[in-house]
Amino acid sequence: MEATGADNQKEIIRLTDLDIKACKGCYSCLPPDVPCHIKDDLNYLLDRIRAADAVVLASPCYFLGPQGSIKMLQDRFLSISNSCREFANKTCITITTHGVPNVMGYTEMALNVTARFMNLKLIDSGSFIGASPAEVLEDPKNLEKVRQMGRGLVDPEYRRIPKAGECPVCWSDILRYDGTSVICPFCGTKGEIKVEGQEARLVFYPQADHRFSDEGRRQHFDEFLNRKKQEFIAKRHFYKELQTPYLSMDWWISPPGNSR
Ligand SMILES: Cc1cc2nc3c(=O)[nH]c(=O)nc-3n(C[C@H](O)[C@H](O)[C@H](O)COP(=O)(O)O)c2cc1C
Repeated sequence: MEATGADNQKEIIRLTDLDIKACKGCYSCLPPDVPCHIKDDLNYLLDRIRAADAVVLASPCYFLGPQGSIKMLQDRFLSISNSCREFANKTCITITTHGVPNVMGYTEMALNVTARFMNLKLIDSGSFIGASPAEVLEDPKNLEKVRQMGRGLVDPEYRRIPKAGECPVCWSDILRYDGTSVICPFCGTKGEIKVEGQEARLVFYPQADHRFSDEGRRQHFDEFLNRKKQEFIAKRHFYKELQTPYLSMDWWISPPGNSR
């Protein structure tokens, strides 16, 4: 953040200081501009992002994924998914730290997907090693790299240096193979493994419309989810009947003083 320049105002929000409750899956926030009605700090956080020109999203790796508050936040994004054009011009970088070489799991991708579901303009992401608190600061190369990324937040010319074998659309290096094609599990971009002599390489076929493009977003959030919501409303009595036997089982338990 310092690398963006002294004139820029900076704010740090620690997600674990906020009260971000679990999404209830009620879909009432699906129409554009209807905020989530759960009373907590989500709208405070979104307002701080609305007020920002650039966002840094960061998390340590915990058990191969991001710290849990990232997922709690991401689960609440239905409320902004129909109106997130407002975030499209805000540059973003994501930063993760992990303690053990090559044991970072899906942490970086989880942060990148969070930024992409918000429709932030993700310009780069980086994963840095440091097991103990502040250990990551010990290596000057880490600081050099992260400052370069930070300067990118305010540099329209900044381009991520592509890494070999990563999805060219969302930069995932976690890929699925169905026996024929390689598929990015995040944006859906397809590719294949080409073998030439002793060499095998990944070739991707990016499409203009993928899960995170404006059209991909419209298809999922406007078309698919709205259609499912209408279907659910029409069939809700039937679904209630299907559900009732499971709800009335006396196997449900909760801690004393806590009603389900
Ligand atoms: C609960 C927990 C789980 C962790 N899981 C992993 C892991 O799966 N892989 C890894 O490389 N480091 C793991 N670590 C190490 C942290 O990623 C590391 O301590 C952290 O990135 C240091 O940065 P911090 O001071 O910002 O937390 C874990 C640490 C904790 C506390």
